[in-house]
Amino acid sequence: MTKPLLRALAGETLPTPPVWMMRQAGRYLPEYKATRAQAGDFLSLCYNPELAAEVTLQPIRRYDFDAAILFADILLVPQALGAELWFVTGEGPRLAPVTEPAQIEALRPAAEVRERLSPIYETLRLVGPALPAQTALIGFAGAPWTVATYMIAGRGTPDQGPAHEMREKAPELFDALMERITDATIEYLDAQIEAGAETVKIFDSWAGSLPADAFARYSIAPIRRIIAELKARHPGVPVIAFPRGAGAAYEGIAHATGADCIALDQFVTAEWAAEHVQRDGCVQGNLDPAHLVSGGPELETETRRIKAAFAGGPHVFNLGHGITPDADPDNVHRMLAAIRG
Ligand code: CP3
Repeated sequence: MTKPLLRALAGETLPTPPVWMMRQAGRYLPEYKATRAQAGDFLSLCYNPELAAEVTLQPIRRYDFDAAILFADILLVPQALGAELWFVTGEGPRLAPVTEPAQIEALRPAAEVRERLSPIYETLRLVGPALPAQTALIGFAGAPWTVATYMIAGRGTPDQGPAHEMREKAPELFDALMERITDATIEYLDAQIEAGAETVKIFDSWAGSLPADAFARYSIAPIRRIIAELKARHPGVPVIAFPRGAGAAYEGIAHATGADCIALDQFVTAEWAAEHVQRDGCVQGNLDPAHLVSGGPELETETRRIKAAFAGGPHVFNLGHGITPDADPDNVHRMLAAIRG
């Protein structure tokens, strides 16, 4: 009996959609905060396979989600490439910017990136056998565009301005950086699949900041290359793509990238996406994470509305973006009750 998540990703329409949440292992959970404190800091947690496996499993124990997602971060790839990375508590990630030709030239080759990230594969090898029989294991990486925005700016920015400036003013240099990230990401995801990831998700959190022509070139094209290479190595392993903020460009993305499932943010309606995106295959999404903070009757009506809108095709229930630290853990139970009845 195949796991519900994998059935949906294969295109099956299920009476109850499988469900998991972006950032399901996170600061809204007291048990996560306790393990993170034990690890010392966020990066130490990512690189400690026993503790990373523990936080990966915490939301499965509490909520019995249909999938566990590897606990790690998209910025581990730039770090393994050679960019200095640290996290400022309460603020977020900081990287030493990589913008000079010599710095890009000096980035580590993909095979070495793969090797350096071996603690992450160990986390997957620990989680896999510890999961309930019905629970799928998801690996992930950032999409090259989103990873590049952090590497160029050295931090999250409201408009990804520095990366846009580089792609416009120094396109060859920018392409060289994108290629290094893409090559490393292929190796990283391949190694995750070999370590037990049953599907992988590619997070393009800042895809929506790209204008149409650049969207095709810098969001779609590298994702398509990653997926084509993974499919060549692992034909049966489904891939989820999350081009956040794509808007009307969500239409056709499954074909353009080769993804088996398109993850939707909350900025498109489920009704629109059912018509324009789900007709090409599985979709994932798209409850506004704010409902898990505010709760109330709207949490249930919105959850039911999304389930109903996507009921005619393959659907994985999820949020439109990660659950936030101020969410109420009990609201997750309410959401699950509304989905699973
Ligand atoms: O979803 C999961 O539960 C799996 C683990 C996961 C994390 N980050 C853990 C994390 C995943 C899939 C990510 C992806 C990620 N990381 C993205 C893409 C998805 C998105 O949110 O758009 C991005 C852009 C990052 C980079 C990143 N990591 C930022 C901007 C921050 C700071 C913001 C914040 O929420 O604190 C992080 C830190 C981070 N990554 C945390 C977690 C649980 C919080 C760290 C902490 O415990 O203090």
